[in-house]
Amino acid sequence: MAKKKVISVLLTAGLVLSVNGAYAQGPVSGTPNQNAASAFDNKIINKINADNMYNTVALLSEQPRAAGTDGELKGAEYIKRQFEKYGYETELQPFKFYDAIRNNVTGLLEINGQDLKPYVFSGSYSAEVTAEVVHVGLAKAGAVPDAVKGKIALIQRGEIAFVDKVQNVLDKGAVGVILYNTAESTGVGIANPGQDIPAVTITKSQGEALVKQLESGPVTAHIKVTGSGYQEKTSYNVIAKMKPNKNKDTGQVVMIGAHHDSVPGGPGANDDASGVSAVLELARVMANMPIDTELRFVTFGAEEKGLLGSYHYASTLSEKDADNIVAHFQMDMIGSKDAGGDNKANGLIMYTIDGKKNLVTDLASAAGARTALAEIVPYGQLGRSDHQPFHELGIPAALFIHSPLEPWYHTPADTIDKIDKQKLQETAEIVGASVYQIARPDTPALEHSRVAPQPVEYDFENRSPGA
Ligand code: BES
Ligand code: ZN
Repeated sequence: MAKKKVISVLLTAGLVLSVNGAYAQGPVSGTPNQNAASAFDNKIINKINADNMYNTVALLSEQPRAAGTDGELKGAEYIKRQFEKYGYETELQPFKFYDAIRNNVTGLLEINGQDLKPYVFSGSYSAEVTAEVVHVGLAKAGAVPDAVKGKIALIQRGEIAFVDKVQNVLDKGAVGVILYNTAESTGVGIANPGQDIPAVTITKSQGEALVKQLESGPVTAHIKVTGSGYQEKTSYNVIAKMKPNKNKDTGQVVMIGAHHDSVPGGPGANDDASGVSAVLELARVMANMPIDTELRFVTFGAEEKGLLGSYHYASTLSEKDADNIVAHFQMDMIGSKDAGGDNKANGLIMYTIDGKKNLVTDLASAAGARTALAEIVPYGQLGRSDHQPFHELGIPAALFIHSPLEPWYHTPADTIDKIDKQKLQETAEIVGASVYQIARPDTPALEHSRVAPQPVEYDFENRSPGA
């Protein structure tokens, strides 16, 4: 691995200067101008073409791309082919996950010959049991009675997660779960894969009546669940790498990511074909640029199932690999006409997990002022996307998104006609200019990947995305 260059003081100076438009190491010089792109910026931003991005969104959103479906695989293979066309070393990285299934789910809960018509937990094991009922309250760890062994646990909703309640009674040998709600509705309850007992939900008053009945003597219940459970499926990450020339290599890596999966039944034009389109466009534009830092473009699968692709990818990195990654730029929902409201920067915001500035937000906020957007980009605090696992590895990471969200979020109406080329262009320019500031050979390498430079002046916003 080639030796890392120079020191963070220089980088800091460079960053501060760049906000004033005077980051003029090497051949570029001129009058500082806050809103002017440098010649280095222009090498990237002049090539970014919103029509390409728009066409990518149109193509990907022709069908839903839910993780583990043919639609996802088709999308992932398309993305891989594009990366290959641009000359990247490319990999389709499969990973398995368990998907909750509901195939004509039926749930029966008979007590004294009467069906209470329960809700079946999402992912509940399908099985039939008849046993006595034992009331176990909230089912907190350490507070479940031994008497629940071989019996059906009656559990009160609240305080701890559904999956933990199920696990705590399973650990004591329970054979079924009846959860009673804190309201007169039932549609709640989630079980994990491997929690192989049927689990159903009843209303608050049904539960309280059952508790009363138990006070005056034993009660036997019959639970039958069909059509519910978990199925093993395969999703994919698409990874593209471009390494610098050996004699120019800092050994560092900058990552640009998006997720290619959609929610089931949703075309996911903005969520997140938009982010993928910018990843591909930046890969195209940067393919033949001189660099001293590895560029790594990744589109993740199964983000909508709980950030599964990005967590899987992160789990494949050695400590040394993770140490070499200096920044992760995540673009998720960057093209909606109807998002962002009246907020500054056309509604674009950079969300970090801890609500603090970092290298990514420092670079991109400044880049906003020098590129098509012509405004400093604010930052805020939010997870809910693939920047999370990178933050957990200690890597400076941020989510680029227009907030508040559009009304079409996670609906079948998240279609191409809602996409705004200008927003795609602005965000891609910001990320492209920021990435190139790290990767171009004339700027100093970062002293250590997990140390961010001094922040520049831009604002925190306590802005909720809604939905
Ligand atoms: N694109 C969204 C992320 C998002 C949603 C960011 C709302 C900001 C506001 C993402 O695809 C998503 O829907 N994420 C899930 C969470 C994930 C862990 C399943 C969400 O927010 O519900
Ligand atoms: Zn998303």
